[in-house]
Amino acid sequence: MAFGQIAKPNWFERALVLIAQALFFTFFLLLYIASSKTAHRLVGYFEEEAVVSYTRYLAEIDACHIANVPAPDIAIAYWNLPADARLREVVEAVRQDEAGHRDVNHGYADTLGGTLAHPPTNG
Ligand SMILES: [Fe+2]
Repeated sequence: MAFGQIAKPNWFERALVLIAQALFFTFFLLLYIASSKTAHRLVGYFEEEAVVSYTRYLAEIDACHIANVPAPDIAIAYWNLPADARLREVVEAVRQDEAGHRDVNHGYADTLGGTLAHPPTNG
């Protein structure tokens, strides 16, 4: 929502996002039913890539290729940023969130399912 206020996508772009979300929801639901371990691993990798992408986003802001516009009010409220926060601070906050999601999902993938989840007991 914060980036939506900055990028201001048109109705066609919004429709594409909704369709992509519907397709991904269906795929991910089926994957989760088949293997929650794999689903969490996949999200862990997605979140890793998100951290890389937001790091590149910060580099583009620092190089002045992307304007460091004022942060939207919704972002200031959600991440509890200073009232004069700018896009760079929003991207840093989002990247920190994504790093947390990466760790949580890889953590679930490490502990869920698999043949070692319920090892045989002796006797
Ligand atoms: Fe995330």
